[in-house]
Formats: sequence, structure tokens, C-alpha cells
Amino acid sequence: MSAADQIFAMLKESSQSGAPLYLQLRRSIEEAVNRGLIGPGDALPSERDIASKADISRVTVRKAVQDLVKGGILVQRHGSGTFVAPRMERVEQSLSRLTSFTEDMARRGMNVRSVWLDRGLYAPSPDEMMVLGLSSTELVARVARLRIANDTPLAIERAALSANVLPDPEAIGSSLYAALETTGNRPVRAVQRISATNLGDADARLLEVPPGVAGLQIERISYLASGKVIEFTRSVYRGDAYDFVAELRLTGPGEELRP
Ligand code: GLP
Repeated sequence: MSAADQIFAMLKESSQSGAPLYLQLRRSIEEAVNRGLIGPGDALPSERDIASKADISRVTVRKAVQDLVKGGILVQRHGSGTFVAPRMERVEQSLSRLTSFTEDMARRGMNVRSVWLDRGLYAPSPDEMMVLGLSSTELVARVARLRIANDTPLAIERAALSANVLPDPEAIGSSLYAALETTGNRPVRAVQRISATNLGDADARLLEVPPGVAGLQIERISYLASGKVIEFTRSVYRGDAYDFVAELRLTGPGEELRP
């Protein structure tokens, strides 16, 4: 069956739903993609083909397709048409180990590289002063990177550390944690907060996804064994690329619940 036929078959299944036509078409295309009837990289039939096959107007087809492009399900390539977006291989990340991005990706055999967005010493923001315990006369080292694995941008990480810990942010190699390790400042504990976000224009452009798609906002505050905060990192991860996995246990008698 051709892609147009697949979509048309899906549309016939849903035509009883009473929803606006463009919504029915959008869901039909989504369903055809989800069921693997049309796969990543496959070309979508032309607007004209879908319209004539399903007997709906081209305006309706365009509206449905534009919604799917915005949602990252389809991609439009100038001059060559509309395609099913390449599927991300999702990264499953345990929430119980304090590892670095470089280690996480190396464990999966992925090549890591970073694009520097910013690195330097700055006057700290109120948030940074509070979390890192800095006074207004001290400096903060900021390290912002686009993190890329196997040529796919996965996350934007903006780390802040006391300038006493990282006096020369320019000197970090490819791994922040490896650099901290050499000075005995690698964190041993962290608290991580994960929340949902819709990616803004600038972040979406860097992560090569349409603006407004779902992402994960992650804040990590890491500590040395002494209890001192060493790192305050705010990151945005692609929502289509990451599954965070936590193991949960029933606490035994006498065991306390700790945050
Ligand atoms: C993870 C954490 C960050 C941390 C980074 C260090 O991605 N979310 O908080 O700064 O690892 O990674 P690397 O040592 O590769 O620079």
C-alpha cells in the first residue's frame, strides 16, 4: 500500500469521530507514523495527492501537516517535500548514579562532542550566590555547552561553579567532571530536579527541533563529600531523546526516608 493509501485507511477508521477534518487527518498521519506504516525518512505524499485521495481541501491538508511539522513528527525540506522526521534513539538514563555526560555516552559507545556556548568568569547572579554560597565580591565560573552524541544534539548544559574551584574555565577539556577530578573536586552526591518545559526559539534551534516542542529542564546541584556545593547546573534536554529511569524500593523497618 502506498503512503497515501495508508493515511487514507487511517482516516477512514477515524472518520466517525466528529472532530474537525484537519484534526482527523493530523491524527491519521500520526497514527500511520506510530504504527510504522510510514517510517522515518519516508516522503509524505504531496498535498494534492492527500487532498484528492481523502476528498478534502488542500487548505485542510496544509493545516494538518503544519501542525505535525511544529510537533516534530514531520520535517519539511525546502524544494524536496515533507518527510517523516528521523526517529531519535532514546537514551535511557539511570537516576541513581552520579555520572557525567561523557561517561554516560561512552558507556553506550556513542561519540561525544560539545560546542562551547560560553565559558568565563562573571559576577554571580543572586541564584548562583545563594546555591554556591558566594559573596557578591567573588566570581562565578560559567561553562555552557551544547552536548552532542553521535552527531545529534541532545542537551544544552549551563554549569556554574565557584571561581575558586574552577579559576580557568578555558582550561577544561572535553569533560567538566574529569577536570574537577584532577583537582579533587569531583562531586560525590547530587540532587537533581527534572521538570517539563517547552523549548524556546534559541534552545530549539541549537537542539535542531521545532520551537515549542517538549523538553526536560534539569537542575543539578552537586556536593563534595564535605557537604560543600560544587556545581549548579541548569540543563535543557530534548524530550524525544531521554528517558530518565529511577529504581524505587520499599523502605525496610527502621530505615528513614531521605530526600
Ligand atoms: C551531566 C550533568 C551535568 C554535569 C555533566 C558533566 O550531564 N547533568 O550536571 O555538569 O554531566 O559532564 P562532563 O564531565 O561530560 O562535562
